[in-house]
Amino acid sequence: MQDRLQALKEEALLKIEQAESLKDLQDIKVAYLGKKGPITEVLKGMGKLSAEERPVVGAFANEIRDAITTSLQEKTERLEAQAIEAKLAQESIDVTLPGRPIAKGNAHPLTAVIEEIEDLFLSMGFTVAEGPEVETDYYNFEALNLPKGHPARDMQDSFFITDDLLLRTQTSPVQARTMEKHHGKGPVKIISPGKVYRRDDDDATHSHQFMQIEGLVVDENVRMSDLKGVLETFAKKMFGEERKIRLRPSFFPFTEPSVEMDISCFKCSGKGCSICKHTGWIEILGAGMVHPNVLEMAGFDAKKYTGFAFGMGPERIAMLKYGIDDIRHFYSNDLRFLKQFKKA
Ligand code: DAH
Repeated sequence: MQDRLQALKEEALLKIEQAESLKDLQDIKVAYLGKKGPITEVLKGMGKLSAEERPVVGAFANEIRDAITTSLQEKTERLEAQAIEAKLAQESIDVTLPGRPIAKGNAHPLTAVIEEIEDLFLSMGFTVAEGPEVETDYYNFEALNLPKGHPARDMQDSFFITDDLLLRTQTSPVQARTMEKHHGKGPVKIISPGKVYRRDDDDATHSHQFMQIEGLVVDENVRMSDLKGVLETFAKKMFGEERKIRLRPSFFPFTEPSVEMDISCFKCSGKGCSICKHTGWIEILGAGMVHPNVLEMAGFDAKKYTGFAFGMGPERIAMLKYGIDDIRHFYSNDLRFLKQFKKA
């Protein structure tokens, strides 16, 4: 009987050795250790053995069962480890492969230009102020020396919401709002970018909604030469150090005197080309010394304080800078246009 058991053990161990899968091992386990397996069969015949032989054969049978169980366990672990290794080898990552590029956006050209202008004025000590786009008649017009019935109101066709509320036609109301917050005390030194609205038909140079950047400086002893210095710095930083500026007399109700600033043409340097309409100069912005009425209405003593203001259209500046021929490109969100402003 012991020989039979020994033979079974060797047979089982060999099969375990040759097993190629966990399923094979499961089959071997059932075949040799199961209730109907040969070892159980042999043990059933133990009754026929003598009292001396029985414990010896019993112990031997247990030993064989343990040996097969241990062997099964070891082989199971080995097969499992092999499976994991094979899987890892298959899934290994080639770190030398180039990555897939992630589609990246870029700042809208108008945003980029506004940020550039903001940075420039921040570097000159200005801060950024904001005001509401739905504005009262008072701040949009009256506080800017444009009383009801003033003919200059017609220069800015407005979207009125009620008799007293409108979509602001300019960022100039932020001047009045900011000065009020200072309670008659200088210095005030702000720029204010934002959306404005006019009842214009959209075409290549007009849009019913566009951006403006307002500037305001109020303090004691602020002079026209300060305005000129700030604007000249702006023009050179924005359009090139060789730029010259020129101030032409103009009219705005909220400034006195009022000027318009031209820069020498950056394309032809003054010789005359299509960009400067053969004049050598390009109009960039409106400006002037803050009207005493505007200072007084906002709570500043106009005998003590003076100020200058300016207003510009960043669309126009971006169009000039990048040779864009239609303002509507800024608002139509055509990727073929927008992608051209991607920085490397
Ligand atoms: N608000 C003016 C406009 O929309 C632009 C402007 C001109 C603003 C002169 C100013 C300024 O602050 O001083 O046409």
